[in-house]
Amino acid sequence: MKTENSEPTSAPLNTNPFNGLIIREREPENLEFPFSALNSFQTPTEQFFVRSHFPVPAIDMKTWRLNIEGLVNEPMEIEYDELRMMPTRTVTMALECAGNSRIFLSPKVTGLQWELGAVGNAEWTGVPLSEILRRAGVKPGAMEAVLEGADSGEIKKEPVSPGKITYARSLTMEKAMSPEVILAYQMNGEDLTPAHGYPVRAIVPGHYGMASVKWLNRILVIDREFRGYFQTTDYTLWERNNGYPIQLLPIREIEVKAEIARPALYEAVPANSVYRMFGAAWTGESEIAKVEISVDGAKTWSPAQLLGDSVKYAWRLWEYHWSTPAKCGRYTVMARATDTRGRTQPMHRDNHRGNYVITHVQPIEVEVKKPRNAVETESYHI
Ligand code: MTE
Repeated sequence: MKTENSEPTSAPLNTNPFNGLIIREREPENLEFPFSALNSFQTPTEQFFVRSHFPVPAIDMKTWRLNIEGLVNEPMEIEYDELRMMPTRTVTMALECAGNSRIFLSPKVTGLQWELGAVGNAEWTGVPLSEILRRAGVKPGAMEAVLEGADSGEIKKEPVSPGKITYARSLTMEKAMSPEVILAYQMNGEDLTPAHGYPVRAIVPGHYGMASVKWLNRILVIDREFRGYFQTTDYTLWERNNGYPIQLLPIREIEVKAEIARPALYEAVPANSVYRMFGAAWTGESEIAKVEISVDGAKTWSPAQLLGDSVKYAWRLWEYHWSTPAKCGRYTVMARATDTRGRTQPMHRDNHRGNYVITHVQPIEVEVKKPRNAVETESYHI
């Protein structure tokens, strides 16, 4: 029997201990944020998507060191406690995987079939990378800083790797020295979780997620372009000249993009009512200037309301009150963003982008439906 003060004996219906995360791959675990559940500026850590190429590495904190090597005056080994005593900086950034929205590509392309949720917006705290490079003293002739993770594995699909390789990406010295790039040990005010890179990860605002190397344990300063697997084979796009592919270049800066959280794809929306459309928009080295909405298949566009203040590198939430039609049926809604540099999302997919950087306007089909027991003239507000 239940008394007034007793704990409920079973979990209430409709609570999901997995926070609605969508499993895109079991091992290594790759998880997607259910984007239609978006309801806050900051994505809670337990709902933040996870993209890992290899299993989470086992790290022994007794022996863990961050090594700074290569073209530096003083190669260094920094202990975790030492790092945590260095000057800190906190940044809020939209971290989007370059493969986000891949599910919308037709014909289908290879890679994890992310829908809208390989993106999140978290607050990260750590030490500016520039501070560490300054302490080590970068030598003249330095061109790039290679960030290397502790995770490793073998890529068995063509092009295969030469046995086990570690995850690594590089930054140009200019980006590495930019104040916003940090070596983060906290996410949303708590120490990093293992899935998100504990003990330390890079956070590279303005770049796609692949640059934000997790489980960081080595920084190598080099005098040439880095030729690692995730820089030259994976996460690359062809540079073209008059249509001719010239060379594969690493993907770097994030492109402008808006996503609709609600309505979700194929959601039933009440006819003849006011429906609050809601979503987020983000961009690279710039800020969101406007988001426009079309509810008639791109014939006309109306401005959405941008919510909150603009925070560079973070996403901007937006809303739009849609007066839904009285006539039931399939409708297509779209959102498109423009940034302060004047870049607008393209309407159509550029197939030269292969299976990455999917930023063309996504048509979201919904079903406008008369709510059950409704009379034609009634209006429904959500
Ligand atoms: N860092 C390491 N060491 N290994 C990885 O597989 N994946 C990258 C990046 N950093 C990866 C990594 C990619 S592709 C993305 S999108 C982001 O981490 C995802 O970060 P998250 O898992 O914290 O969301």
